[in-house]
Amino acid sequence: MKNVLIIGSTGQIGSELTMKLRGIYGGGNIVAGYIRGAEPKGELLESGPSAVVDVTDAAQISEAVRKYKVDTIYNLAALLSAVAESKPQLAWKIGMGGLFNVLEVARECGCAVFTPSSIGSFGDDSPKDKTPQDTFRNPHTMYGVTKVSGELLSDYYFYRFGVDTRSVRFPGLISYVTLPGGGTTDYAVDIYYSAVRGETFECPIAAGTFMDMMYMPDALRAAIEIMEAEPSKFKHRNSFNIAAMSFDPEIIYAAIRKYIPDFNMVYKVDSLRQKIAESWPNSLDDTCAREEWGWKPEYDLDAMTRDMIARLRERLQ
Ligand code: SER
Repeated sequence: MKNVLIIGSTGQIGSELTMKLRGIYGGGNIVAGYIRGAEPKGELLESGPSAVVDVTDAAQISEAVRKYKVDTIYNLAALLSAVAESKPQLAWKIGMGGLFNVLEVARECGCAVFTPSSIGSFGDDSPKDKTPQDTFRNPHTMYGVTKVSGELLSDYYFYRFGVDTRSVRFPGLISYVTLPGGGTTDYAVDIYYSAVRGETFECPIAAGTFMDMMYMPDALRAAIEIMEAEPSKFKHRNSFNIAAMSFDPEIIYAAIRKYIPDFNMVYKVDSLRQKIAESWPNSLDDTCAREEWGWKPEYDLDAMTRDMIARLRERLQ
């Protein structure tokens, strides 16, 4: 990786990944791609080049890749699971149309491509606990449909055209920098904001519903390490299970109350999000990622909770 284009650089992952890559590779080599209405601001704008790159516009992707001599594309544009259910046509256009555009430009220009997949690529018939790397993937959400199709298309471009495509299946991602929007795992971010603000949290996911989660610093490391990995040990590419922690609302609530004892949570279950959550794994088996490129998480629930509370206190109080 020398010159990198981040598509979706102002989103939940992109805003932090862009800054982290600029810290490693130098600001001038990392191009922040954004769409109109979601312009980079502050440090993100000032620390390196940026360009309008709408993933649904192949010409814009091609122009940025050629102008900045890009060798690696992080394709982070997507609608999250719950919002994708309310706009399935747009979710397909961005998730699959966008990916096709990225892969075509990568094929023409010789770029490597990272596209996140998700725990959402699994469905009701996948084993729920320690879900294996290779198993049934029959999701009934548009988000999941685009993730499974995207994995297949990315592998196709590798086998057919030699495009260096790599990917991980992210769990729910928790961070204090940029809020996610319209996801099923968002509750595990929102709960920290309520706790630090001293508000009662209305939990949209029912007690006893387990999902895999990960703190953003681990997720960023995964996205970088897989693209830097020497590929000779790869048996998989699109996409690797990665895991760090699994909990239900009661467990994260208790983890926060250890540091904020008067924090209060009530349940107000959102039926769409609950249905999606129940169709997803409780936890993933990430053995293949560990064996094929050395993946290892650093943050467990307690370490993440301590850091989230401290960082949010700095930001919100
Ligand atoms: N965080 C995503 C969502 O909840 C799952 O990958 O939609």
